[in-house]
Amino acid sequence: MISQKSIQEVQDAARIEEVVGDFVELRRRGVNLAGLCPFHHEKTPSFYVSPSKNIFKCFGCARGGTPVNFVMEHENLSFPDAIRYLARKYRIELEETVNDDLALQEQQVLESLYLINQFAQDFFAEQMRSTDLGKSVCLSYFKHRGFDDATIEKFGLGFAPGDRDRFTQVAVAKGYSIELLRKLGLTTSFDNDFFRNRAMFPIHNLSGKVIAFAGRIMHKDPKAPKYINSPETDIYTKSKVLYGAFFAKKTIRQQDECFLVEGYTDVISLHRSGIENVVASSGTSLTSDQVKLIKRFSSKLTILYDGDAAGIRAALRGLDMALEEDLNVRVVLLPDGEDPDSYIQKVGKDRFLKYVQENAQDIIQLETALLLEQAGNDPTRRAAVISQIAYSISRIHNPLRRDEYVRNVRETLKVDEGRLLMEINNIRKRDYEKFTRKQEVPGEKPKESLPSGQPGQSFPVPVPSPAAIGDVFQEKDLVRLLITAGNKIFDEKARVSVAEYVLMNIEDVLGEFDHPLYHRVVMEIRTLALDKREVRLDFFLNHPDPEIVQLAVNFSSSPYEYSENWAQKWEIFLSQSHPDENQRLDAENLIKRFKLRKIRRFKARNAEKLNAMMTAGGPESEIEVCLRLHLRLKEIENQLAKELGTVVL
Ligand code: GTP
Ligand code: MN
Repeated sequence: MISQKSIQEVQDAARIEEVVGDFVELRRRGVNLAGLCPFHHEKTPSFYVSPSKNIFKCFGCARGGTPVNFVMEHENLSFPDAIRYLARKYRIELEETVNDDLALQEQQVLESLYLINQFAQDFFAEQMRSTDLGKSVCLSYFKHRGFDDATIEKFGLGFAPGDRDRFTQVAVAKGYSIELLRKLGLTTSFDNDFFRNRAMFPIHNLSGKVIAFAGRIMHKDPKAPKYINSPETDIYTKSKVLYGAFFAKKTIRQQDECFLVEGYTDVISLHRSGIENVVASSGTSLTSDQVKLIKRFSSKLTILYDGDAAGIRAALRGLDMALEEDLNVRVVLLPDGEDPDSYIQKVGKDRFLKYVQENAQDIIQLETALLLEQAGNDPTRRAAVISQIAYSISRIHNPLRRDEYVRNVRETLKVDEGRLLMEINNIRKRDYEKFTRKQEVPGEKPKESLPSGQPGQSFPVPVPSPAAIGDVFQEKDLVRLLITAGNKIFDEKARVSVAEYVLMNIEDVLGEFDHPLYHRVVMEIRTLALDKREVRLDFFLNHPDPEIVQLAVNFSSSPYEYSENWAQKWEIFLSQSHPDENQRLDAENLIKRFKLRKIRRFKARNAEKLNAMMTAGGPESEIEVCLRLHLRLKEIENQLAKELGTVVL
């Protein structure tokens, strides 16, 4: 049995576009996203996802519903199993009663750990409020820092007295296991209290349970650490937790923005002033789990750090990872010497927010400016900066956002847009190669690797040597047709697309391509067609192979223009109707041209062989085979030539 609270938490966390997005390629359509329905066969998208309503809907098969419904339907799961599935995806711990004995035992241990931590929080709060020392030393310290009673209560703050083992004694007397107290780090191996004479900050998980503590020293002491923390346990993994997330999650979602600060007191102070969408990384740099956690609630992250060098470095450390998760990251550097806590206490909520608004900088822009400043006028270092920025931009998956960044930083960097794009594509290409190499079956010959450029050096667009030009013009026209019109319908009744038709017809000569790039593209299209996926221009525009992107860009910028003097060259009268409507004619003629070239090549090759055998007096039977092949090829050639008209190039 999964508790109602856990079910609710999963339902709150699950985003329809993310859940569906794991299985269906979605594209933006206005406020919604659209894709091909995974439940029934269809060629054009009638499957919609509404992020705002958090539901999916197919107009083709009338299925629809919540993220849970989608998982049940798609993965063929029961309701509780769908909840478990989503809990795993969103890293939510389910409160679940189980029957299995061992699991039950483990469950009970975890429950005890939570229970003890809750007891500890209550103990520390009690010590703060009802002992003289607690009041005079700790409560007054919090008050002095501007925390009011409601805030102190909300965050469960408290006081750990300075005695050797007061807490441990009380806890053991209450019946809590000493082993578990040690495990939680509340008690040392010598059975002393770990937190002594400290202001206590409980750390909560996303459902509000106490999983750890931080204890702050209340007076200046250069010899003692300012904060000490609970160790990691089965219920506390430091890198997965963001301080304040439980109190902030609702507001983060409402405001669709998450503020990230460094310290516990920054979180509390901002809350106190009415800014609740704030979490802390607790002095460490952001981890990818923490980024994923933020991503569950919003895709906008605003980092509020000290304006000093350390603060900036800290902000930049998590940058590439955040970009990789497609977070929109901005940074606000606070005035010198201020942290969010001190600054909001000084200027108040409104001026604080105004400052944030006016000083939020895009993180890549900031990185660019800072790196350039460091590089000075040294050309080598400036080149390195370009590579570094290209790397950051290459982390972003969304090609439109990448473009935006390229346009934004190109002026600051004083670099040619094409050069930057080239570097970015190079990096993405290498990642892609690494990725595909990983997927290869061991022992299989690795794919012919693409020319890989070094950072700071653009890769050469392949120009075939004159001797190798061969049939590249025909190949180019064919590839252009496939890229720009591959998904167009070739035959309505047979439901055949242009790409499918072309491929069916050149299957036998696929090995005959002269130009390696065109060959690569055709083989990719073949895979798409075999998988029954649409051959779309944006597939190529977003391709990790920069040469393919370049090709697609060239083709798409003049979609209706075939190679120069196309009409004259091929004597095909294109101007009579829009080429878009001429797809059928184009496809058929291009295939014929292409095949004619290849047939002639076969014929020439065969003729050479025949000649050699005749002069050398080769075996009669083989000469016979060659001769017959020659006649057959000639026949096909004549047929193709006839269909193409009298003039054949
Ligand atoms: P105040 O000084 O009370 O305002 O605390 P703060 O939260 O603003 O602390 P600060 O800006 O100095 O540090 C930011 C965060 O780094 C803290 O909230 C802690 O999470 C962490 N931190 C700071 N000092 C220590 C330390 O001595 N030990 C450990 N473990 N963490 C620390
Ligand atoms: Mn501070």
